[in-house]
Amino acid sequence: MKKAKHIFAFFCLKDTYKIMKGIFPIDKFNNIETPFYYYDTKVLRETLDTIKREASKYENYHVHYAIKANANNKILEIISNSGLGADCVSGGEVKAAIKAGFPADKVVFAGVGKSDKEINLALDYNISCFNVESVPELEVINELAKAKGKVANVAFRINPNVGAHTHANITTGLAENKFGISMEDMDKVIDMAKEMNNVEFVGLHFHIGSQILEMDDFVALCNRVNQLQEKLTSMRIIVKSINVGGGLGIDYSHPNRKPIPSFAEFFNTYHKHIKLYPGQKLHFELGRAVVGQCGSLISRVIYVKEGTNKKFAILDAGMTDLIRPALYQAYHKIENISSDEPMETYDVVGPICESSDVFGKAIDLNKTHRGDLIALRSAGAYGEIMASRYNCRELPIVYRRRFNLIFIGVVAITTPIILLDANILIFLPEIYKLSICLSLLMI
Ligand code: LLP
Repeated sequence: MKKAKHIFAFFCLKDTYKIMKGIFPIDKFNNIETPFYYYDTKVLRETLDTIKREASKYENYHVHYAIKANANNKILEIISNSGLGADCVSGGEVKAAIKAGFPADKVVFAGVGKSDKEINLALDYNISCFNVESVPELEVINELAKAKGKVANVAFRINPNVGAHTHANITTGLAENKFGISMEDMDKVIDMAKEMNNVEFVGLHFHIGSQILEMDDFVALCNRVNQLQEKLTSMRIIVKSINVGGGLGIDYSHPNRKPIPSFAEFFNTYHKHIKLYPGQKLHFELGRAVVGQCGSLISRVIYVKEGTNKKFAILDAGMTDLIRPALYQAYHKIENISSDEPMETYDVVGPICESSDVFGKAIDLNKTHRGDLIALRSAGAYGEIMASRYNCRELPIVYRRRFNLIFIGVVAITTPIILLDANILIFLPEIYKLSICLSLLMI
């Protein structure tokens, strides 16, 4: 009897490993060149539905998507169709937002160093608000708006000097960080804006950091906002909107168990702690929490190498494809999705000539062989968008075919598209789309 229990436990454990892995169309992946980003749009849509459902429980809550997390065209289209606004930090992002269908009156533009060209572009699009981060920037926006005969809405990004329990490189709300206008300078900038004819002061903006899982950090921000709002009311100012930025984290350890972040808790925390005046709007700018869990980087094992006292699984993806582990020592769950063999321990590394090109040390994977497919999970946010061409590598999003292969036939060329079902999306580069059009023309 005892023995039977043991066997049962073993099977449970084995099954748990299976259950804990993501579900991927592996047969289809076998025909696709790696590495590539794979997006599960079902997860994305469910996440968006949850955001809309939870935010709509409160009056005047408006959610923007922080484009910096992932600017893949198709992802942006899905998000803009869901009705979210856009938060941008460059002219390029403003363009991408408009192109993807975000209405200009739902686009906000932040960033410490907006160039004249970028400001002019945003003015031309009539975006809803500039989140201004310094006095000189305010002066330039006023000047450029004047030249166009326009009045630009401005919110002041205030550095609230509120810490966040997250990695130092992604904390933004401390006095020592470069972001925002200091609380002490707030009155001065407001007075300046009042004197200017081509800007209208409409709100305050904050953002304390990213990958924040402790709601108390957001409570601390609410308390600061309340304090600053009291100060403004004593100056007889009530702004139209408060923008509290983004920052809600995701569960990198359990992407399968918990693919949708705790939006209910997040919005409720603000509801409980922030004091809004009647008619005041509360804006959010969520990036990671929207797209983080819908994406995985799929890679192939090139070699399994026996080191002196460990085994290395060497992948064809590296830090150029997903830089977060190298840059922030970030954890991404790694799964061998083509093997069901017993677990073994590996250092999972990329092929780049940098010692920091490591995805994870002492990782338990099903016994791994050359050619196995590896999924790096929770890579939908700050993955594809941060990829680089270091070492003259190709970008992972680009599933390239050369021009001389364009005419190899419709079937071969369209195969990757036929492979996709409604719930998955693999980004195809312009060159690929062009090749498909040319092929179709030839039929
Ligand atoms: N609003 C502002 C003004 C921001 O600077 C950011 C992110 C967001 C919103 C969106 O934050 P989220 O909801 O995604 O936490 N590359 C880093 C993250 C950098 C975040 C920069 N700012 C990473 O891979 O962890």
